[in-house]
Amino acid sequence: MNALRFYVNDHLVEESAVSPTTTLLYYLREKLGLFATKEGCNEGDCGACTVAIVDAMAPGGPKFRAINSCLVLLPMVQGKRVYTAEGLATGDDLHEVQKRLAEGFGSQCGYCTPGVVMSMFEAAYREDLDEDWKLDDQMCGNLCRCTGYKPIYDATREVAGTRPEGRFRDVLEKAEASPMTLTYEHGAQRYFTPDSFEALWDVLEDHPTARLVSGGTDLSLEVSKQFKILPLLVSVEGLDALRRLAVDGDTLFIGATARLADVEDVTAERWQPIHRMLRFFGARQIKNRATIGGNLCTASPIGDMGPILVALGATAHLGSREGSRSMSVQDFLVGYRQTALQPSEILTHVTVPAIPATARCVAYKVSKRQELDISAVSAGLYVELDEANTVTLARLSFGGLSARPATRAAQAERALVGAQWTLESVERAAQSLKEDFNPISDHRGSSWYRSMVASNLLRGFFHETASGAVPALPYRPTATVNSFAGR
Ligand SMILES: Cc1cc2nc3c(=O)[nH]c(=O)nc-3n(C[C@H](O)[C@H](O)[C@H](O)COP(=O)(O)OP(=O)(O)OC[C@H]3O[C@@H](n4cnc5c(N)ncnc54)[C@H](O)[C@@H]3O)c2cc1C
Ligand code: FES
Ligand code: FES
Repeated sequence: MNALRFYVNDHLVEESAVSPTTTLLYYLREKLGLFATKEGCNEGDCGACTVAIVDAMAPGGPKFRAINSCLVLLPMVQGKRVYTAEGLATGDDLHEVQKRLAEGFGSQCGYCTPGVVMSMFEAAYREDLDEDWKLDDQMCGNLCRCTGYKPIYDATREVAGTRPEGRFRDVLEKAEASPMTLTYEHGAQRYFTPDSFEALWDVLEDHPTARLVSGGTDLSLEVSKQFKILPLLVSVEGLDALRRLAVDGDTLFIGATARLADVEDVTAERWQPIHRMLRFFGARQIKNRATIGGNLCTASPIGDMGPILVALGATAHLGSREGSRSMSVQDFLVGYRQTALQPSEILTHVTVPAIPATARCVAYKVSKRQELDISAVSAGLYVELDEANTVTLARLSFGGLSARPATRAAQAERALVGAQWTLESVERAAQSLKEDFNPISDHRGSSWYRSMVASNLLRGFFHETASGAVPALPYRPTATVNSFAGR
């Protein structure tokens, strides 16, 4: 058995006497006495618990990542460097982000401040925060009850991308990937992080009831909100091959443990509909941990990546000791919280074909709030047209309308294929949608509302793609940016 080993504010921590499902937040506060990191919601929504880690394997080189410590189990930081608000100052000299926030009156009661500072800290070392909406995206996971956000926003804008000189730049420059390998046991609980496929298959063979875990943004809620004692977890984070994220010719390769924040970056140009969906997926801290594998394997009817991957005709690749097999993402998502995975089998990666010039494609997410909300309805909509403007292929995939994730609208598709791509045929298809779905009513929307939204999305698809086959996300002022326009 190994001990848990990681660094907090540059001090080595070695631990072998705590449960492996101890959250990083709990450990920082209750064991290390680092009380700056706060507990607000304990479910990834408020940002009070934000800390930064060094991600030495990030595409393009090592990066600081703001993450929600309430959703991170201690073994998930094995071998990593963690920084909290207490660790930023050097002696009496505050870090630049702390100075700017204090001088700009960005802290009042101070409850949110350490978390805000840590999201600003990530922003300070990012080099791509060149548009207002990106600043919003960076900070939308940090709630503040007091400031009205303007001072926080202004301070963030001042420090974003400045990469202040000093020891943190050195940390990034010297960062090296360290193995996460772990075999940990405490009481009746065990946690394994194998670093090779052979080791993974061995663990799964020896422990057929083990639960797999990747970024933990979904699974950790069972600990933080439901107080479950998970006896046996096997993490797939230690396998470098699963983190691969690359464009291979005309195919996008997304490893099962590729972070959604990185997927958002890589899809900005050629796979714009995926990029657009990720713009409205969770908050920065969530996307810094969440993975495509975790998103698909939860098979949630309101999971946001399913519909657009189904619409794009993506393929799921599965692996086990017996070998590998592939199927469409559509066939992978079998039913409510059910995938095609067999026991001891994992999702290894997803491949997405290029979007041909003859295609029209968009992704939509409709929720009560723009940022950090769960979809009432989501959609991935795709058609291919021939030279005569006839629809030759239609994949209309919806989330939130039925128990099965990313369900295709078979009747509506039938109404479109062979028809001209005109508003009249889209209108007929929108009517057919009523036969495809009988959505439930719940607190996110009534059955009537969901049906109406779905047919309007189809109409919107037609209108929006009139200006571009795969429209890029138009600049959409978000609440904060909007209210400060004309500063
Ligand atoms: C605050 C908050 C906001 C969120 N916002 C959104 C949102 O906007 N849209 C959305 O769709 N989701 C959202 N989620 C849900 C969640 O973040 C995503 O589903 C995420 O992609 C899960 O990835 P993960 O790596 O963290 O999964 P994990 O929690 O690690 O795993 C989830 C499940 O998948 C299984 N699993 C993981 N990887 C594999 C694999 N490679 N092979 C087999 N099984 C595997 C695990 O056993 C587990 O059952 C949100 C969650 C939170 C807490
Ligand atoms: S405590 Fe609210 S996001 Fe972690
Ligand atoms: S300063 Fe009080 S919650 Fe932000």
